[in-house]
Amino acid sequence: MIAKTEEEINGLTEIGGIIRFVLDEVEKQVRPGITTLDLDTVVGKLLADNGARSAPILAYNFPGFSCISVNDEAAHGIPGPRALEEGQLVNIDVSAEKNGYWADSGRSIPVGNVSEPLLLLCSTTKKALDAGIKAAFAGNAINEIGRAVETVASEAGFQIIDGLVGHGVGRNIHEPPEVHNRFMPVPNMKLQEGLVITIEPFLTQGIGNYREGRDGWTLLTIDGSHSAQFEHTLIITKEAPIIVT
Ligand code: CO
Ligand code: CO
Repeated sequence: MIAKTEEEINGLTEIGGIIRFVLDEVEKQVRPGITTLDLDTVVGKLLADNGARSAPILAYNFPGFSCISVNDEAAHGIPGPRALEEGQLVNIDVSAEKNGYWADSGRSIPVGNVSEPLLLLCSTTKKALDAGIKAAFAGNAINEIGRAVETVASEAGFQIIDGLVGHGVGRNIHEPPEVHNRFMPVPNMKLQEGLVITIEPFLTQGIGNYREGRDGWTLLTIDGSHSAQFEHTLIITKEAPIIVT
């Protein structure tokens, strides 16, 4: 959506703040032994307490309040009875709606003590998101976001997972335009003031392709290597964007 009025910006900021709060709370619960279903139950309760509804359920009838993806699972992992183990990387992606406004955020979280290479994968993915956000201002070409993300990833020796992209958001969970994590030569669309998008780099140590899991939802790296993702929802302005999550 293009957010023009104060009311629209407030609506987006409210749902974004709820999502940030839910992620902060659920992150505190991440530890070896907790199940991904336990984590999702916390997400569901906190969303409901704040008058928000899970976007994956509303939009896709997803079997969980949030998407929880472990290790080589890049996205759309289904919460379930398996327990997290020391040394894993868990990605929690929370998207939700309140009063007709939608926002989306995710983060990869180390479970207990995690190896240096995985910590580097995480910190680089976060850095790639920050670089993308810096390129997100009105008048800049949208593909400059992808260029910035890709540069950080390749300088650290990681690959972008092809086909997993950011997106417009605001009045629904997935709206145009696609926000690619690498430089796409065309089309050279300019970012418009008020445009609401997510930026969500997916980085891997592997070759950067994904496959669909047998459950019909989970997206995994094709070579079994780890994936990390960080995501924010933001509103484009002439200067630094408003990060609502
Ligand atoms: Co998301
Ligand atoms: Co998203």
